[in-house]
Amino acid sequence: MKVDKFSDLLVENGFFETLCTVWEGMEVAQEDLQQQNSDLEADCKRAQEALHESEERFRLLVAGVKEYAIFRLTPDGYVVSWNAEATKILGYQAAEIIGQHFSCFFTPGDIHCGYPEEDLRIAVAEERVEEDRWYVRSDSTLLWGSGIVTTLRDEGGHLLGFSKIVRDMTSHKRARQKTNDELELRVENRTTELSKANEQLQREISERELAAAQLKASLQEKEVLLKEVHHRVKNNLQIISSLLNLQSEHMQDKQARESFQVSQKRIESMALIHEKLYQSNDLAQIEFDDYVQDLVDSLFYSYEVNSSAIARKTSLDKVSLDINTAIPCGLIINELISNILKHAFPAGKSGEFQVELHNNNDNQVALIISDNGVGFPLDFDFNQTESLGLQLVNTLTAQIGGTIELNKSVGTEFKITFPAR
Ligand SMILES: Nc1ncnc2c1ncn2[C@@H]1O[C@H](COP(=O)(O)OP(=O)(O)OP(=O)(O)O)[C@@H](O)[C@H]1O
Ligand SMILES: [Mg+2]
Repeated sequence: MKVDKFSDLLVENGFFETLCTVWEGMEVAQEDLQQQNSDLEADCKRAQEALHESEERFRLLVAGVKEYAIFRLTPDGYVVSWNAEATKILGYQAAEIIGQHFSCFFTPGDIHCGYPEEDLRIAVAEERVEEDRWYVRSDSTLLWGSGIVTTLRDEGGHLLGFSKIVRDMTSHKRARQKTNDELELRVENRTTELSKANEQLQREISERELAAAQLKASLQEKEVLLKEVHHRVKNNLQIISSLLNLQSEHMQDKQARESFQVSQKRIESMALIHEKLYQSNDLAQIEFDDYVQDLVDSLFYSYEVNSSAIARKTSLDKVSLDINTAIPCGLIINELISNILKHAFPAGKSGEFQVELHNNNDNQVALIISDNGVGFPLDFDFNQTESLGLQLVNTLTAQIGGTIELNKSVGTEFKITFPAR
């Protein structure tokens, strides 16, 4: 009764009608929700299918890649995927390697150095790491691989793991190694050849040094001997000169005595050359200016010239001559100065004579011997003389390749020009 009354009350007040309206509205909303729900489910399914399709395409792509082993690692380095080429290159079947730590591809030495961890650490820091190294295959053989490790992250940047790609470069490595080995071998062979050549060269150098030292010693020995020879020649010439002197003293004939004395002076002028030579450092050349000065002085004293009546002057350039020129030249000077001292200033006549030695630029030496004495007789031809002195001068000048000029304008002046040798 009470209920009836309550229903009546709801009807009476229009509440029932309102309730029905609300109910109907709720039913419409529920249908709407169901519709949206099924739409969402359909969208989700499509998305999942698309994702699955994309993953499948990626899987097929990875599986179909040739020459590159491609596999994924967890953040701590365990293998989670493995392509067919990885089996080919590294030898492991997917079933046996998935779940294993990737350090099994490293050599014991590299593991000892901590390279597996280091690779992952660098990849995390720099997003990728590239390295070329020896990899260990499932059958423990080695391959030279060129690898890249790249990080995999979600949209929020959280590390999901790594992908690793390895290419087998063993044949390249071996070919390069072979080339290097060949090069090294060639370098080694060449080095051996060079060191042998060097040793040979060193031997030759020491032999030559030894020969040079022997030659030098022998040269020194010969120089000593040559000095000794010059010394003895000079001594012998002086003995001859002394003998002539002794003999001339026993001669009654004045002319014969004088001839002996002249010869004695000739010999002394030659002895002086040998004396100069053995005193000199250079046994082949003589300092001729020095010799001329000594010869002039020696003749001046040996003729017992009155030095207050006759003056002598010398003007001598530095001239160096070999013995073959010096001896004839010394004899020429001896003759010409002897002539001046004997003939230019007769009967105590005073005057002067001069000896000049000039080193001309054209490698010619000029010897000028002059006096202001009585001079030659006007009709005198020095080329046609009977006497020995001037004949000797002519012959010896020709012998040294020289020429003679005679100037008779004041006293006598002989100019002899000859090549410096
Ligand atoms: N400077 C001089 N001044 C003057 N007359 C000279 C001079 N030189 C040489 N004569 C003359 O020329 C001559 C020939 O000289 P030469 O030297 O040929 O013979 P020599 O001196 O007489 O003898 P020797 O053969 O011993 O030298 C001399 O006798 C002398 O008359
Ligand atoms: Mg003379």
